[in-house]
Amino acid sequence: MVTVNLEGIVKRFKDVVAVNDVTLTIEDGELFTLLGPSGCGKTTILRCIAGFYIPEKGKILFDGLDVTNVPPNLRETGMVFQNYALWPHMSIFDNVAYGLKIRKMEKEKITEKVNEILDLVKLEKLAERFPYQLSGGQQQRVALARALVIEPKVLLLDEPLSNLDAKLRIEMRNEISRIQKRLDITTIYVTHDQEEALAISDRLTVIDKGIIQQVGAPVDIYSYPTNYFVADFIGECNLIPGTVSSIDGYITLETDIGVIRGVADSKEKKFKVGDGAYAAIRPENFDLHSTSKEANHIKGKVKYTQYFGKINRLFIDSNGNRLMADADPMKTINVKKKEIDLYAEPDSILILSEG
Ligand SMILES: Nc1ncnc2c1ncn2[C@@H]1O[C@H](COP(=O)(O)OP(=O)(O)OP(=O)(O)O)[C@@H](O)[C@H]1O
Ligand SMILES: [Mg+2]
Repeated sequence: MVTVNLEGIVKRFKDVVAVNDVTLTIEDGELFTLLGPSGCGKTTILRCIAGFYIPEKGKILFDGLDVTNVPPNLRETGMVFQNYALWPHMSIFDNVAYGLKIRKMEKEKITEKVNEILDLVKLEKLAERFPYQLSGGQQQRVALARALVIEPKVLLLDEPLSNLDAKLRIEMRNEISRIQKRLDITTIYVTHDQEEALAISDRLTVIDKGIIQQVGAPVDIYSYPTNYFVADFIGECNLIPGTVSSIDGYITLETDIGVIRGVADSKEKKFKVGDGAYAAIRPENFDLHSTSKEANHIKGKVKYTQYFGKINRLFIDSNGNRLMADADPMKTINVKKKEIDLYAEPDSILILSEG
């Protein structure tokens, strides 16, 4: 097991700064996710860690050892590429065995290791097949087996599930989680799917334009996003602009849908009266049936609804602002076109600064 440190990594492609001063510590045996929109620099960071790119600035350390200029084949990382990149003319067995053959391992030992790893990814019965004879999910397992068979110090997974259908994605992410925990291998996982990131990660980082926005456990990132970008990118969030009008235990915002009281996103951040800010309210934190007399009552009209089984999501117009609120489907059967009153507890509302 290995701790991976990135210290001030910068990687440019001509005038594009793909990775902008990224500093991260990925702990021993952790499943750590790089999450962000297309083009934010996830693959470039992974390629720097694997050694396919050398950053212009900064250092990469494995267990304190500087590997920044060590070539990929000596870094002992295993990588799964987005498109699997299996060799079409080789059987599954040979695809997985390849990395061991070029390491000149004995034939018997290779057979033993490949069978062991095919067993782990539940492909032992398909060893003689060729990639075209496998489903997408099975090919994905082969790619995983091929990366794992060399017993890498660090496992790098670049959107490994992106070619699979919704149900298989969930099945495979559970599988990856199981194997990762069983082998206790330091793993860096790349996805642009926030739900997948929340489900699978021990910790994750949200990246925008090559810059780290936040690092934390899934529950911290979801409950305490530190800025507008993270609040907007992770899950659904109503972000209501306003101006700070008073500060006591709570921050009070004047907005064009009424007075909203909430809590500051972090203790260090100081708001002043007159500052621009956003109230961040998750749809599930709205209550349609509150009798509270405090601030935070918002009036609106339901434009339309979307039924998700467990919840009914209401799309509400409030003085020209579009809001989302999640409600009990049984209690909101005939709510369309109706005026409603929404309430959210001050403690469930985060006040985020504009910057
Ligand atoms: N080889 C390259 N040459 C020039 N520009 C590149 C190269 N590779 C990446 N870029 C640019 O660097 C930025 C980051 O790209 P990167 O592939 O790391 O993004 P990503 O987060 O992996 O995106 P996606 O989710 O679409 O895979 C993008 O603006 C991209 O166009
Ligand atoms: Mg990518």
